[in-house]
Amino acid sequence: MTTSSEPSRQTATPTFRQDVLDGLRRRQKLLPCKYFYDKTGSLLFDRICELPEYYLTRAETALIERNLASIVASCGKSAMLIELGSGSSLKTRLLLDRMRDLACYVPIDISSQHLHDTARQLRARYADLAVLPVVADYARELPSAPALKSPAGAGRRVVFFPGSSIGNFEPAGAIALLERMRKLAGVGGLVLVGADLGSDPAAVHAAYNDAAGVTAEFNKNLLARINRELRGDFQLDQFQHEAVFQLEQRRVQMRLVSQVAQRVHVCGEQFSFAQGEWIVTEHCYKYADR
Ligand code: AVJ
Repeated sequence: MTTSSEPSRQTATPTFRQDVLDGLRRRQKLLPCKYFYDKTGSLLFDRICELPEYYLTRAETALIERNLASIVASCGKSAMLIELGSGSSLKTRLLLDRMRDLACYVPIDISSQHLHDTARQLRARYADLAVLPVVADYARELPSAPALKSPAGAGRRVVFFPGSSIGNFEPAGAIALLERMRKLAGVGGLVLVGADLGSDPAAVHAAYNDAAGVTAEFNKNLLARINRELRGDFQLDQFQHEAVFQLEQRRVQMRLVSQVAQRVHVCGEQFSFAQGEWIVTEHCYKYADR
């Protein structure tokens, strides 16, 4: 975890390497979805958010707009706004536009380059705002970085976690993350979480299997990233994107399905795939409204 404001180079971290190798060695191969978000993946995700099929972003933006007055009132004066997985901070701008007295904004993201690019844009747009980016994997740790100390005179700490990214966590992991968020918010703090209900199965299926193929590109970028950073030799056209809404588990399962029997190398290690075998790349849990 670093708090420097210098953009850093994209290099494979030891955890990326270890997580990929561990995931590919399993009987059911899997790759953690947090590794989607290198610079390319972060930009592809922004394109997903604009797809006609991807209702989540529009639904949540409308919810925030509709409830903006009460959100702003709940945050109170001189709040410290902390966002997990801030990406391009697009929805956050709705809050930043209205909350001109924020003590500071602390965007936390795993993608260092994208985080710093976004921070630069925010500073240009909100000249009076203290933007204090923290590069961190919030799935692993919510760090006690200097940027996360409340500045003098700050009001409530508000932890903002929009986009239904909570859906990426298995139920026990989601509860553990909520507990860490509560700790981060502290006494008198506030936690604002967005979760998709996924009440229309056809709409959910379409949202993760868009006609333009952007989600497929986003999914396959994970293999491209492994090729780039971990000496991988995945042939992208030999894998097919698939997203299945598993109703009993209330989750979408994203997969990359091997189209042929093949062998792939990563960091010098060989992995075999049967035809039709898939790698699980993401779970997106949907939440019941009760
Ligand atoms: C960023 C995790 C909320 O689950 O909808 C979009 C990621 N994956 N399309 C989601 C995603 C495929 C997204 N989250």
